[in-house]
Amino acid sequence: MRTLHVLVIALSFSPSLAAMQMPSTFSLMPVPAKVQAGSGQLVIDQSFTAASTGTSDGRLEHGIARFLDDLSRQTGMPLTVRPSDAAHATLAIHAQSAGRKVQELGEDESYTLEINASHATLTAPTALGALHGLQTFMQLVAPTPAGFAVPVVTVNDQPRFAWRGLLIDVCRHFIPLDIMKRNLDGMAALKMNVLHLHLSDNEGFRIESKRFPKLQELGSEGQYYTQAEVREFVAYARDRGIRVMPEFEMPGHSRSIVVGYPELASQPGPYKAGRIAQTEPALDVTQDKTYKFLDKLIAEMVQLFPDAYLHIGGDEVDDRPWDSNPKIQQFIRAHGMKSNRDLQAYFNQRLQKIVRKHGKIMMGWDEVLHPDLPKTVVVQSWRGQESLAAAARQGYRGLLSYGYYLDLIWPAARHYAVDPMSGGAASLTPEEQQRILGGEACMWSEHISAETIDSRIWPRLAAIAERLWSPQNVTDPKSMYQRMDEISGRLGWLGLTHESNYVPMLRRLAGREDIAALRVLADVVEPTKDYTRTEIFPQPPVQFMPLNRLADAAQPESTVARHFSDLVDTYFQNGEQKSAAEAQIRSWLNQWQQNHANLQSLLEQSFLLTEDKPLSEDLSALAAAGLQALDALDKSQSLPDQWRTDQLTVVARSNTPRANLLLMVAPSIQKLIDAAAPRH
Ligand code: ACM
Repeated sequence: MRTLHVLVIALSFSPSLAAMQMPSTFSLMPVPAKVQAGSGQLVIDQSFTAASTGTSDGRLEHGIARFLDDLSRQTGMPLTVRPSDAAHATLAIHAQSAGRKVQELGEDESYTLEINASHATLTAPTALGALHGLQTFMQLVAPTPAGFAVPVVTVNDQPRFAWRGLLIDVCRHFIPLDIMKRNLDGMAALKMNVLHLHLSDNEGFRIESKRFPKLQELGSEGQYYTQAEVREFVAYARDRGIRVMPEFEMPGHSRSIVVGYPELASQPGPYKAGRIAQTEPALDVTQDKTYKFLDKLIAEMVQLFPDAYLHIGGDEVDDRPWDSNPKIQQFIRAHGMKSNRDLQAYFNQRLQKIVRKHGKIMMGWDEVLHPDLPKTVVVQSWRGQESLAAAARQGYRGLLSYGYYLDLIWPAARHYAVDPMSGGAASLTPEEQQRILGGEACMWSEHISAETIDSRIWPRLAAIAERLWSPQNVTDPKSMYQRMDEISGRLGWLGLTHESNYVPMLRRLAGREDIAALRVLADVVEPTKDYTRTEIFPQPPVQFMPLNRLADAAQPESTVARHFSDLVDTYFQNGEQKSAAEAQIRSWLNQWQQNHANLQSLLEQSFLLTEDKPLSEDLSALAAAGLQALDALDKSQSLPDQWRTDQLTVVARSNTPRANLLLMVAPSIQKLIDAAAPRH
């Protein structure tokens, strides 16, 4: 449990912040719509009770039981007292209604939490809002001199966007349900409300079909969810205020479908599932039997997924199989179409009628956008903010995913800066802006496994969750990072392994218990960004490639490098903190400079670490350069051009992927080098 962290936003200096009515955010994430801090606190000891005084609702009762469990685990205190009368519980929870039987987009998720020195009240129009309010209360609990406590405060909160999602790709790497469930717990803690389950792709078909069993038998390598498991999983999500939307990819990304049913493909096959190099198939969308198959498959799948939305993929269709099939090209000409793109639009129109017949609203990636599609179709934008705006202008509702791809290993601040209403959307009319429903982070799983997925999602997803929930003017990355660091620790109590797996993975690399020197290096590297990961995952993709290197153990965003960068900035601001900052910078640089001598023999002993030796050498070299630069700056000396040239060679290497890693302290050390050896 971290200390209660009161972030007082510079209220007196900034009238626009005052208008935000956000005197303090404590450590709350996402930042609520309105927080009014009082004075004093409500102590939470073992007499603490929580009970519902409003509508009786199974989902809320489960939520309260879970809340008490979590509170007990996070404080280490058994909480066994039941209130004699719900109205006299320490925390009295009043939901006016249970909410919809099937959770709907746009349901009221607001809540009001009032805490005074003797008790607390949580009120909400629906059980959904009450569940969110419980998460807020939990985040306020912290140790104080008088015991665990929450501050006296009033929170009035509601989300900015109705759709706050996470896509998990369970195709490229299968993710078992226990791991999926703990990620739902994390999402609920951050008030996210949609899990987008990417269930079929070239590499795997991950759900049981009783109607077409060859889908999972031949298309999954034995890794799929049974229907009973899916039902239980969807109920688990509902209990946490999370909708589950399935995605079945078509007409491209469909190899795992045509493995068992090659008659649906545009070329005869045969096909194989899994992470192998094989030409991308495309469904033959000119034949009626393809639609009959999809009609029956969708009829079966909608029984498992009560959500109103069904995602049909539609992205990145490799249309070469259409080009090389004379029957398909003849069909295009006979129907007066101009291109394969028109053929995909024809397919989407027929598919949309099937989806609608089964009571669902069709959703697709932005490639599905075509003037012939009905306006009910929802567009998910992954190629840019312009396509989201274009869809909204044409009357379609849409979601933003561009800018929220967790697999690109961007820093949280970069995701945080992407707003669904910025870019092209900023020039939309208010009516068009209404069509932007929110956003979804995407966790594509080419380079993650069941072991590493938590650390690739968390804690960075918290920044995107805040972007989608909090008021638009909540944008300060410094505040975000402070709160994200706090939340990261709290997420560990839910069973998420993004922090707890780090040391075991480093020990595996080292083959021994003492990893002190390895950790010094691991703490300052990050996996390469964007789509650059190819060195230890060679192309074409190889099945079941181990993901057990330093690039897999390393955190997506180095906290040490971020703090070091802040120290260097403080040093150059030349204020009263300068000498304290310099002392800390020197302490880091000394540690890094000596580290390679401590680490070298280990790097030579484990085959998993050999590739990291040049990085370790360069960390020491960079640190030495940083120390020389500080010495020169202290004496107001200028170091020679040749020295700068030599050091910048090391900096450039460090900024270039090696072993799929970057040395993240290089840019800050470069600032010291540049200052000590200025260009003339
Ligand atoms: C996508 O990333 N192709 C949706």
